[in-house]
Amino acid sequence: KRMVIFASGRGSNAVALHDAVEAGAINAEVKALVCDIPGAPVMDRAREWGVPVILADRKQFGSKAEFEQFILDQIAPYQADVICLAGFMRLLSGDFISRYEHKIINIHPALLPSFRGLHAQRQALEAGVKIAGCTVHFVVPDMDAGPIILQSSVPVMDDDTEDTLAARILTKEHPTFIKAVSLFCDDKLRIEGGVVKGTQA
Ligand code: GRF
Repeated sequence: KRMVIFASGRGSNAVALHDAVEAGAINAEVKALVCDIPGAPVMDRAREWGVPVILADRKQFGSKAEFEQFILDQIAPYQADVICLAGFMRLLSGDFISRYEHKIINIHPALLPSFRGLHAQRQALEAGVKIAGCTVHFVVPDMDAGPIILQSSVPVMDDDTEDTLAARILTKEHPTFIKAVSLFCDDKLRIEGGVVKGTQA
């Protein structure tokens, strides 16, 4: 499978995916990285991989539609079979998503449907939950709402801060994202009535 990764920041999930591809743990090849933030460290990681880096700086475009069209035009040649949103901090429009129906996979640092949106780890702490975690899901126009592929959990400790909880969740994000994308690339997943099946190997 041909993979394109979208990311906005540090890139630890992007690195995890790339390294898994290189190790043969994901049956894919990383064709390009798309980033929306000038100077984001993830672009340096992609350059180290020798992968084409596409910077789509939202501020350079007059509208969201033009911004998205630029990205669509830039990635079209790669004919992506899967787009992985690895800490990509923009919402993609329904038009964009429809171009890659059920081929866009996102990771979110909470157990959806709880705690959608930004600062999910903080939301979990403020809610006083004792179990937190991450969710890998197919992307639909609604934010953090698509069919769930895999989830992993971590305990919330009494002395947790947003940072300590985020770090604990992050350790589960990488293997969970890798496994979910691997299952997808091996065509193991099917969606029945909005529910993903085929994840228990
Ligand atoms: C991850 O926690 C991811 O779940 C969230 O943003 C963070 C990105 O981290 N969407 P990184 O850039 O992958 O290190």
